[in-house]
Amino acid sequence: MLDLSKITIKNFKYFESVSSTNDIILEMAKNGAEEYSCCFAEEQAKGRGRLERVWQTYPYKSLAFSFVLYNFQEVIPLVLCCSLHTVLKNKFQSNVVIKWPNDIYFNECKLSGILVESYPVQSSKRAYIVGIGLNVFAEDDKLDMVGFLEDATDIAISREELLNNLFKQIKEDIANLQKNGFGQFKDYFMQNCLYLNQQISVNLHNKVESGEFVGINDSGYLILKQKEVILNIPAGQIVQKKWINGHNKRIYTNSNIW
Ligand code: BTN
Repeated sequence: MLDLSKITIKNFKYFESVSSTNDIILEMAKNGAEEYSCCFAEEQAKGRGRLERVWQTYPYKSLAFSFVLYNFQEVIPLVLCCSLHTVLKNKFQSNVVIKWPNDIYFNECKLSGILVESYPVQSSKRAYIVGIGLNVFAEDDKLDMVGFLEDATDIAISREELLNNLFKQIKEDIANLQKNGFGQFKDYFMQNCLYLNQQISVNLHNKVESGEFVGINDSGYLILKQKEVILNIPAGQIVQKKWINGHNKRIYTNSNIW
């Protein structure tokens, strides 16, 4: 379990098992929890991800936590992704990369994802529930294309320290966003993201769009350049075409499997 005496996050609640940490924080927000109140669980019976996927949490080997914001900008999920990347890169010297819109990958395997859900909590107030999952220590019994921070670094990892560092970086970055805007995060995101300037396909709800990934705009939308038009895509899943070992066979790499 986590050594709670080492956790520096204010208003922090620890659970062995919950349905989803997002559900717990929503209940706390309805009861007036302060901004950045945070809950953490070792196990989630109904952990969920973006696009209605299931999120698998590996007990004692992962970070699965949620916190609440009451002030929100639509670029916050991308900024949070920069926060995760900064900590994983700087503190752990890992070669992790960002995958639009807010995943962290290492060697084509997904280490981390972010889910933001929004609900009204009082008459004129909305809560933005931010849930972050990060696979830390390797687990043999894992789903395909799942990665672990441990495999991406030679530095010893303490989950407590990692969590404290992430939370500190997140708060700093959101304060910085509110003060100075999205510009610096947009640059950081593009410098560290997968597939920039490459041909990609993006799964949208009911269709797939293909073209060159030329950047993100000021709202964090993916800019896809096609022959005749430029599309600004607010949400979706990037899939990239790959040729395997020279075989005349095409697969799509993606993380849309859990
Ligand atoms: C994604 O990549 O699709 C987002 C994954 C988000 C997972 C986290 S784990 C903590 C929080 N509780 C959940 O049920 N989901 C988020």
